[in-house]
Amino acid sequence: MPTPPPNPHLPFGDQRTAPWYGKDILSVKQFSREDLEYIFAVAHEMHDMVNHVGTFDLLKGKILANLFYEPSTRTSSSFTAAMERLGGSVIPINEVKYSSVSKGESLPDTVRTLECYADVIVLRHPEVGSAAIAAKAARKPVINAGDGIGEHPTQALLDAFTIKEELGHLDGLTVTLLGDLKHGRTVHSLARLLSLYKVRLNYVAPDILRMPAELIDEIKAKKIEQAEYTTLDACLPQTDVLYVTRVQKERFSDEAVYESVKGAYVIDPQVMKAARERMIVMHPLPRVGEISPEFDDDPRAAYFRQMEYGLYVRMALLAMVLGKA
Ligand code: ASP
Ligand code: CP
Repeated sequence: MPTPPPNPHLPFGDQRTAPWYGKDILSVKQFSREDLEYIFAVAHEMHDMVNHVGTFDLLKGKILANLFYEPSTRTSSSFTAAMERLGGSVIPINEVKYSSVSKGESLPDTVRTLECYADVIVLRHPEVGSAAIAAKAARKPVINAGDGIGEHPTQALLDAFTIKEELGHLDGLTVTLLGDLKHGRTVHSLARLLSLYKVRLNYVAPDILRMPAELIDEIKAKKIEQAEYTTLDACLPQTDVLYVTRVQKERFSDEAVYESVKGAYVIDPQVMKAARERMIVMHPLPRVGEISPEFDDDPRAAYFRQMEYGLYVRMALLAMVLGKA
């Protein structure tokens, strides 16, 4: 189909030569600092456009296949909203058991099928490396929306954007990652992404849920200061960003082990008395008890704002891989 002429009323042109056109987004390792600056700028434009016009036709006629093998509220619905706000449409496969996956269809065949109908595929899957397998099978761009305990790159991008919007910069910050650092794909991606900046990273986790040693080594090689703790009190007062995570129940084979660590940390107004006045608390969500709702009205509670930033970042990413930014 011929490409329609660019709309001069939009801040974005049709840029088939744009560097991200047709690219997969599989890991945060793909991004440089300059890429992040660019994504943040486009996400900013998206925010303004949504505020001013709500929905516009940048991706009119484009179709997203939203393929989720694992539960999701935010990632799935924000990609849908992002596509629809850009004038495109979505094939939702939120429950693969109603698709031919339940008849035994493989991931590569499922992806090959969907790319016959869609221009871009967003995939969440329980296995590490699944997004890369899908990308190998597909000619169209695949965006990793979480591959098991591996990565969740679009979450890390929206997390970094949140920090930038809320605190104005990333260099010089102390970021404390708390909770299930072993299984949490969001913290794996975020720690990697933050290593592009001059940050200090604190890891607070029960002994059995520590940040994987390979990841600590990878980040150490970038000369990033890191420290591990089992309790929060030693590092909370110096923290600029407290990134809280859920203990990932679905990754435990022994429920008794999950039960033994699930309530390890609870952030509430009392705990937060020891923190700075100017800092933020983030959480990729869903939360299941690790942040008390009593803290929600504190201006430092950024986790609901963080979800909204995700819409603008995902709009930016869709526009980029479809050659419109
Ligand atoms: N929603 C995030 C994820 O899918 C975090 C979580 O589920 O705890 O990784
Ligand atoms: N943050 C996140 O990925 O949320 P969902 O699991 O609801 O998509």
